[in-house]
Amino acid sequence: TKISELRAYLNQQDDNPTRQTKAHMYLASLLDVLDMSKALHIMANVGPRPVGSVENEVLTVNYLLEQVEQIRSESIAGPHAITLDLQRPTGSFSIKNVISYYDRITNIAVRLEPKDGAQHFMLANCHFDSVANSPGASDDAVSCAVMLEVLRSLASLSSPLTHGVIFLFNGAEENVLQASHGFITQHPWAKQVKAFVNLEAAGVGGKEVVFQTGPENPWLVQAYVHAAVHPFASVVGQEIFQSGIIPSETDFRIYRDFGNIPGIDLAFIENGFLYHTKYDTADRILTDSIQRAGDNILALLKHLLMSEKLADSSEYRHGNMVFFDVLGVVAVAYPARVGTIINYMAVMATFLYLAKKNKGKCGHYLRDLALGSCVALLSWFATLLSVLIVALVLTLAGCSMFWYSHFSVAIALYGSAAAAKILLVHTLAKNLYYGVSIDLNILGELFFDVSLLLWCCVLLCLTLRGLCSAYVPMLMVAFPLATKLLLSSHFRCRGASVPYAVLYLLGLTLPYVHLMFLIWVVFEIFCPILGRSGTKIPPEVVLACLVTLAIILLSSYFMHFIYLARSSRRVLTILGSLFAVMLLLVSSGLIFPYSSDPDRPRPKRIIIQHTTRTFHTLNGLVEHEDSGLWINSCDYTGMSYITPHIPEINDTIRTQRHDDLPFGGFPGYLPLPFLIKKSWYLPVPAASPKSPLEFRLVSKQVTEWGTIKMSFEAKGPSHMSLYLRPNTGVSLSSWSFGNNTPQSNFIFYSHGLGAPAWHFWLEIQPPSEPSAEKGLISVAVSCHYFGEAHRTPQLDALLGRFPAWSFPSSWVSSYHMFRY
Ligand SMILES: *[C@@H]1O[C@H](CO)[C@@H](O)[C@H](O)[C@H]1NC(C)=O
Repeated sequence: TKISELRAYLNQQDDNPTRQTKAHMYLASLLDVLDMSKALHIMANVGPRPVGSVENEVLTVNYLLEQVEQIRSESIAGPHAITLDLQRPTGSFSIKNVISYYDRITNIAVRLEPKDGAQHFMLANCHFDSVANSPGASDDAVSCAVMLEVLRSLASLSSPLTHGVIFLFNGAEENVLQASHGFITQHPWAKQVKAFVNLEAAGVGGKEVVFQTGPENPWLVQAYVHAAVHPFASVVGQEIFQSGIIPSETDFRIYRDFGNIPGIDLAFIENGFLYHTKYDTADRILTDSIQRAGDNILALLKHLLMSEKLADSSEYRHGNMVFFDVLGVVAVAYPARVGTIINYMAVMATFLYLAKKNKGKCGHYLRDLALGSCVALLSWFATLLSVLIVALVLTLAGCSMFWYSHFSVAIALYGSAAAAKILLVHTLAKNLYYGVSIDLNILGELFFDVSLLLWCCVLLCLTLRGLCSAYVPMLMVAFPLATKLLLSSHFRCRGASVPYAVLYLLGLTLPYVHLMFLIWVVFEIFCPILGRSGTKIPPEVVLACLVTLAIILLSSYFMHFIYLARSSRRVLTILGSLFAVMLLLVSSGLIFPYSSDPDRPRPKRIIIQHTTRTFHTLNGLVEHEDSGLWINSCDYTGMSYITPHIPEINDTIRTQRHDDLPFGGFPGYLPLPFLIKKSWYLPVPAASPKSPLEFRLVSKQVTEWGTIKMSFEAKGPSHMSLYLRPNTGVSLSSWSFGNNTPQSNFIFYSHGLGAPAWHFWLEIQPPSEPSAEKGLISVAVSCHYFGEAHRTPQLDALLGRFPAWSFPSSWVSSYHMFRY
């Protein structure tokens, strides 16, 4: 109430422009931050908000409706109108081979437009649901808090905006992006949306980064560059994300693919170790980061809502943009076409520079350059190989993930190995191959040219492939070359003099700082991902490659110092000892991967489902029944660190997936078996959840064209997964989940509150010789019961024994298999 009173008071003062002092404005912005922080705390304190839970569908929805209503009543006299719509869509779609079916999930759409209406709209999207067992403060309550505040700010403007804006608080994003699909394909307002801004999280707190924009529509990036108060963006992120190596998707994809709308995707990326865990709490998000996000989004929306380009976006649709920020101070953006020209100019300049050197040397210089490049490439290859061997040895020795809590150890270990190897190869080349007879200054010069040439090749490659990320090698060519040319005109006597070295380093500062920043972002994103990338990919190999690559990139323009220096023995000894000490430390097991330190938690992620399984025969009898705790490790170390604490989770209870059963015979929540290969199944008594599955075959008939159509009815909890496994010779020809021919065997189903039974049908093509024993198709349904109300004593007893540095996310599941 104090906040609202103070705000009302400030608003009164607003009428009097002479009173608008700096202090006044500062106070107003402070109130905004307080408001956002309060909204964040309220939403996060509701607790986990999976779809279909009271927390999500009632408590959070009511809170948001209340807030929007309050903003509406406060701004009723202003130049804008606010309309609120509660949508409960039902539908289905497929994405990346997962079919998704949703029934009565929730969207809160709020429309703000000038009182005499608007034709064109921006969409601002966030989601208020969370995964089970995480308070979801960063993912994505904080974005909802920011959006509420941006709505309030826009609503209290005294002059009308040109266009309208729709704020979508969507209630089912963690459910494979269902709510955004429900909005963009079904809501009557969707047709007016011309572009969107999506606020997401892949971490907890920190700065929010623009990690993808488009497709095309350069004016959107320009708007961000122009408006963002604290820019943080790079086209490298976009190209990495869109290459598909990061295993996640955002609503961006739905708006792009189902709505054909361009947009900007922003996400918090720091501290990904805590993403989707119990540590994603409101107190971990500093007010700085809330304010930053608020400032940026408000400025960006204000800019776009006044922009002529939004009205006629098809006019400005074409072309990509190269964009990046320089130390978060300014953002740079230019069209990809211009980028290509700049890149080719840098390539040309390099070739001219090299050609000039070759003049009058009848090809000797070129031969030396080629040989030097071979030495450099050889050193990189040898380095990668050696570091990979170290990584493999550590993996086999059971030391995987040692760097999860202590990242610097990985840098010290793999970094020193990589640096030492590069140094060693070049020292050997210098002493054994080139010999002492050659002038070291000339050799140093040559290896500078080698670096330049290699970067230039990278630049050429990326440019020819049409990648905007080519701006990075462009910087790495242009700046060193310019520095070199400037310096060699001043320092006639080349060489390793100190002022020369200082000026040289100064010239490299800008591209190097940017490169280091990009490398930091890559580690910030990939290290946490290795904690949830499954039991199949050895994380040491990935990390060793990344560290080696970073060292190779960073060392490139320092390579020639090896030749200028008199001896590299001392540096080699230091690096070698550092490596030996680190290797000893890691292999002795002194460095523990996980941590429960409240300031820097690094939890090991585990999924536990208290499972009851029932298998039916062709005539409907129960063939087999069992129950247990189905345990999956999200990272490579499996249960090796858990077994000492809980001896009964050991290799004797490892289970294999049964390939002849639908989905391997276990109740997987999402289709991740390609990531998680090892599982454990600890027998315990069955759970008896409150709304058990009621499943029946409603009808079965032979169609005119000889296929068999079967209709089913399922009634159960808010989350069910359906797995289909046609027997040999049988194929699925059609189904009720969209028109396309069935490709997937996994259907993800969820419902909000008060949904009726789920009806679906399948049409199958029977084989020429039906098997009497197994039937045509196996259909399995698994039910997932989230939340406190469904916990079981067995689950609680086991959870209580897990060490503090682990984060077991758990719920109750059942798996029912039927044959037809
Ligand atoms: C391994 O697990 C099984 C089953 O949980 C248990 O009976 C056995 O005692 C465990 N072995 C050890 C060495 O603790």
